Order: sequence, then C-alpha cells, then structure tokens
Amino acid sequence: MRDGETILLTGPTSQVGLPVARELAKRHRVLGLARFSKGGDRERVEALGVEPIAVDLADGDLGLVPEDVDVVLHFAVVKSGDFDYDLRANAEGAARLVSRCRRARAFLHVSSAGVYAHAGPVPLAEDARLGDNHRSLMPTYSISKIAAESAVRFAAREFGVPTTIARLSVPYGDEGGWPWFHLMMMKSGAPIPIHPQGPNRYNPLHEDDVLAQIPGLLDAATVPATTVNWGGEPASIEQWCAWLAELTGLEPRFEETPDAFGSLEVDRTRLHGLVAPAAVGWKDGIRRLVQARNPEMLR
Ligand SMILES: NC(=O)c1ccc[n+]([C@@H]2O[C@H](COP(=O)([O-])OP(=O)(O)OC[C@H]3O[C@@H](n4cnc5c(N)ncnc54)[C@H](OP(=O)(O)O)[C@@H]3O)[C@@H](O)[C@H]2O)c1
Repeated sequence: MRDGETILLTGPTSQVGLPVARELAKRHRVLGLARFSKGGDRERVEALGVEPIAVDLADGDLGLVPEDVDVVLHFAVVKSGDFDYDLRANAEGAARLVSRCRRARAFLHVSSAGVYAHAGPVPLAEDARLGDNHRSLMPTYSISKIAAESAVRFAAREFGVPTTIARLSVPYGDEGGWPWFHLMMMKSGAPIPIHPQGPNRYNPLHEDDVLAQIPGLLDAATVPATTVNWGGEPASIEQWCAWLAELTGLEPRFEETPDAFGSLEVDRTRLHGLVAPAAVGWKDGIRRLVQARNPEMLR
C-alpha cells in the first residue's frame, strides 16, 4: 500500500482480515466493512484504529462507503448455508462493491482454492477444473465463491476497475485456521476426516505472508481481472498433524472418507511471478500458532 492511501477492508473481524486490519491501521486510514453481528466486534475493530462501516453485503446500503477509497481488500464471506442469502452477499455483494469503488486503484478479491474440483494430489493451476468441493462441510461455499469470482470479473470489466482475484489456500496464524481446528480435534479425540486418495496436500500461508504479499497482488491488478493462486509451501494434513503431535504429544485420529475435501495443492508459478515466495515455513508457523493460542499444550 502506498503512503496516504485509504483502504477499504471488508471482513475486518475475520480470521484472515483481522491481522491485516491491525497492521494496516498503524500506517493508513482503514475503513472496515462488516455487519458487526457479534457483540464487541465493532469496538474491537475501533480499538485497532479501523473506522467501522456496518453494512450487510447481501442488501445493505453501499452508499455508506466513501466513493474515493484507493484500495479495496475484499475478505468478507458468509457461509450461512442459505443459498439465496449467501449468493447475494458473496457474489452480488462483491460486484456491488466493485461498482461502488470504481475509482479505486486496485481491488483485491479474496477467493479460495475451494473453487477447484478435487483432482488427486497434483498441483492445480488456475485453469484447472472447478467444482463444488466444500459441499460436505459448507454447502454454499464453493458455489458462491465461484459465482463471486464471475460477478467480480464482470464488474471489473464493466466499471474498469483493476482487479486481482486471489485463490487463497489455507491461511493460519495467531487467529487460528485449519491446523488449529485439527489441534482442537486432536485434543478432544475427534476423528479428522481425510480423503482416501492421500496425501491431502494444501498450501498453508501464515498471516505474516498474507500481509507481505498483498501489495504485490494489488500491483498485479488488471482489467480484465488477474486470477492467481495464493498459498505457501505445500504440506499435507497428515504432515501438519504429525508435526502438531510432535509439538504437543497428542495423536491425531484420521478417518478416511470420500466426503473430505481431498488434496487441493495449488500451482504457484503465476503467484511467484507477482510476489516473493512466502517467508514463514509451515513448521515454524504452526509452532508459532500453538505458542500464541495454546502455549500450555507445547511439550
Ligand atoms: N479461513 C480459511 O481457511 C480460508 C481459506 C481459503 C479462503 N478463505 C477466504 O478468506 C476470506 C476470509 O475468510 P475467513 O475464514 O477469515 O472469514 P470469517 O472468519 O468467516 O469472517 C467472515 C467476515 O465476513 C463478514 N461478513 C459475513 N457476512 C457478511 C455480510 N453479509 N456482509 C458484510 N460482511 C459480512 C464477517 O463479519 P460479520 O459476521 O459481523 O458481518 C467477518 O468479518 C474469505 O473470502 C474466504 O473465502 C478463507
């Protein structure tokens, strides 16, 4: 981000967006858009120096968003399970946001590697087959993320807004993330679902690298939109759970099921043409996650 820029960040209370909001608000004017549906969220964001804008992306009044924001970081997502609502908020809401912020220098739409169809343990390039991957856990998620990408692509062209669509893999850090859920499952003895066609590989990306890579992703924004995978060095669920076991002494209990998401490792060739590779290795990052959230569990 450049000096003096005003940033609109949607989802400032999200797992991924909160640490970004916290850091950016130290140096920039940051507007944070969400419903602020949970008590205390609005105050938490204000305490970071973020100016809250309470809007529901499904049908709220985007007139509350100043027209002259320089940069949009669109992290907000809803997974209520209601198709009508989730498509309105995630897809139409994203396009309405592009329209409202048509004077922005760059719009970063955070998508997901969950838009890909499972194709086995092979890295997926941006032209890989799409699919309803996350249906078993979050019925509306993959479909509404795919719809959101299309809505954003259309709006970027229609309103001439330089845009990057970044398909994020597995973000994690002090705010938690998938490896932390696995740690909690290991603690409670709950089975961890994995696809029978292992290894179940993804690209964990530490929150420090999310922040570090945002400027490069914004500089890559184009009309029509640039679509790019977004992740760190590959690791499998099996590997990071084994590492969590080493760190804590807890043992994972895997349960093979074809309903699990399956390997969704992303090809990072295009990403590395735009930004420097992630700096935080997944082992180091996961140790930091446990240290930050559950230090009592470290051996
Ligand atoms: N977490 C992951 O493992 C992961 C993986 C790949 C990609 N991603 C992507 O990364 C982004 C952030 O994900 P996350 O997991 O950090 O999100 P999250 O923790 O579920 O938070 C969602 C955010 O969106 C806001 N929001 C929800 N519904 C809204 C609505 N109707 N109008 C306005 N704001 C709304 C929420 O605040 P309110 O509820 O107060 O409105 C909250 O700030 C998403 O785009 C997601 O698809 C995440």
